[in-house]
Amino acid sequence: MQTYPVDSEVATHALAQKLSLKIQKGDVITLQGTLGAGKTTFVRALVEALGGDPIQVSSPTFSIIHHYDALVSIAHVDAYRLGSEAEAIQAGIEDLFDGDHIVLIEWPENILNLIPDPVIQIQIQWLGEMEREFYISGLEDF
Ligand SMILES: Nc1ncnc2c1ncn2[C@@H]1O[C@H](COP(=O)(O)OP(=O)(O)O)[C@@H](O)[C@H]1O
Ligand SMILES: [Mg+2]
Repeated sequence: MQTYPVDSEVATHALAQKLSLKIQKGDVITLQGTLGAGKTTFVRALVEALGGDPIQVSSPTFSIIHHYDALVSIAHVDAYRLGSEAEAIQAGIEDLFDGDHIVLIEWPENILNLIPDPVIQIQIQWLGEMEREFYISGLEDF
């Protein structure tokens, strides 16, 4: 596991940019951290780094699965409001793991049984208004 301290949103964007060079379709990335830690902000930066439209990445979680067109197809799952894993299955989550997408999952702890191994795990710790610590595991050479 690697630790990356950041002290600004710009630094968070730079980290996402760096990660974007190391991932490919079929990768599943989980993002953990308290509300406001920066999970969606990181997803937005990653979508932009992969050639997608960052404006489409919304913080409020109205639907469970979002799709973004980028250099590679990106699926963004926000499991925050999920009542059950059955709900995620009904939303079609299993189709996302067919190897054709990069799948980014906020609140993976709510759907642990549905997420295939291996995953790239990102944990974000809130340290201060702008300061965060990112812990990244499951990725060689990063
Ligand atoms: N270094 C940073 N990295 C990411 N977000 C930051 C940082 N500093 C401040 N923020 C702010 O923290 C908030 C994170 O919100 P969001 O990404 O929606 O969190 P989450 O999805 O984890 O609930 C945003 O308002 C963002 O502007
Ligand atoms: Mg979020």
